[in-house]
Amino acid sequence: MIYLDNAATSGKKPTEVINANIEALTHYSINPNRSAYKRALDLSYKIYRVRASVADFFNADVERIIFTSGATAALNLSILGSLKVGGHIITSVYEHNSVLRVLEQLKQQGLIEYCVVEPSTKMGIISAKQVSEKLKSNTYMVALNHISNVTGVENDVSSVGKFCTSHNLLFLLDAAQSAGHVQIDIQKSGIDLLAVAGHKGLLGPQGVGVLALNKSLEAKGYSLTPISFGGTGTLGESLNQPQNLPEGFESGTLNNPGILALGAGAEYVKQNFLKFQSHIKSLAKHTLENLAHTTNVILYTPKNTYGGVISFNIKGLECNAVADMLDTEYGIAVRAGLHCAPLTHSFLDTLNFGGTVRASIGWHNTLAEINTFLHAVKTIANQIS
Ligand code: ALA
Repeated sequence: MIYLDNAATSGKKPTEVINANIEALTHYSINPNRSAYKRALDLSYKIYRVRASVADFFNADVERIIFTSGATAALNLSILGSLKVGGHIITSVYEHNSVLRVLEQLKQQGLIEYCVVEPSTKMGIISAKQVSEKLKSNTYMVALNHISNVTGVENDVSSVGKFCTSHNLLFLLDAAQSAGHVQIDIQKSGIDLLAVAGHKGLLGPQGVGVLALNKSLEAKGYSLTPISFGGTGTLGESLNQPQNLPEGFESGTLNNPGILALGAGAEYVKQNFLKFQSHIKSLAKHTLENLAHTTNVILYTPKNTYGGVISFNIKGLECNAVADMLDTEYGIAVRAGLHCAPLTHSFLDTLNFGGTVRASIGWHNTLAEINTFLHAVKTIANQIS
C-alpha cells in the first residue's frame, strides 16, 4: 500500500516510538504519581521528561503541558474550560468539527455566540485583518486552525496572536496538522492555548495529545478550569478537584504507553526536523506542480503550499469514487470526503463532489510512490470524456 493519508495519522512510526511503546507495556504497566515504589517513581520521572521535551518543542513551561487523549480533547478542554457565558468567539471556515461542534453545542445551550471568518480569496489565509472585522464588545476568544487539514493552507498565526494580545482576547490555536511540521513558539506568537495531536506530525501513537498553556492566559485575566474530574494522585483528602497544573487536568490513569512513545516521537522529529520538512516540501512541490498540469483535475491547495496536505477533485467524479479507484486499482490510500471540516467545503464549493480527495505526504513517502500516485490520478482523469 502507498500510504498518503498522513494528515489523518502519520502512517509510519520510527522504531524508537515502537520500542518506547513496547517498553512501556513491558516494564511500566503501573501507575505513576500515585505510589512511591521505585519503578513508579522511575515512570513518573520518564513522564516528566516527555513533558519537558514537549514543552521545549513549543517553548512552553513544563508544568503547563497537559496530556490529553488527542487534539480533540485538548480543544474541548480549551473551549469548555475557559467558557465565558454570554461571550463571543471568533473562529474560521477552516475549522475542524472538534472546534465547530463544541462551539455549536455551547451556542445551542444559549451560553455563547460565535462567528466564522473567511479568507478574502478562495484559497487564501486567515490573518488579523479578517478577525478584526468580526470583533465585538463581548468577544473573548479566537479559535483558529493553524494548517487546514483540507487544503494545507497555513494561517497567519503571528498577526492573529498580536491582535489577540493587543485586544486581550484568548488565542486558541488548533495545531493538529502543524505540530511537528512547522516551528511553533507559543511565547513569540502570542498563543494562549495550543492543541496538539500526538499521532500526526509528532509521530506518536493514537490516543495521546497535548494542551500547552501559556502563562499569558492568566496574565490576560482568564483562567482554565478542569472539565473532567477524578483522581489526580494529589490532595486526596479533598472532594474538590485540584486546580493545579498539570495534574488537576489529567484525572485518571495516564496513557503511559502513549505518552512515552509520544516522547520518543517528539525527540525523533526534533532531531530530523529540517530534513523532514525539506523532504515533504520537495515531494509536495512535485505533486502540486504535476496536478496543476493534469487535465480535469481541480486543485484546492494553493501554489507554494508545501506542508504536504493536498486536496483536489477530478471533474465529473465524486471524490469517494476517485479514492476508491486509487485504493482498489492502484493500492493507494488517500482520504476523501469532508475531512470533518464542513465549512471549508461550503466555502470552496466542493460539496457537489462530496468534498475533496486529499493526499497527505509523510516523512517516509518516496518520490517513486508520489510518481505512482500522479500516474494513477492522470489515468483516472484521462478517462473522463
Ligand atoms: N482530522 C483528521 C483528518 O484530517 C482525522 O483526517
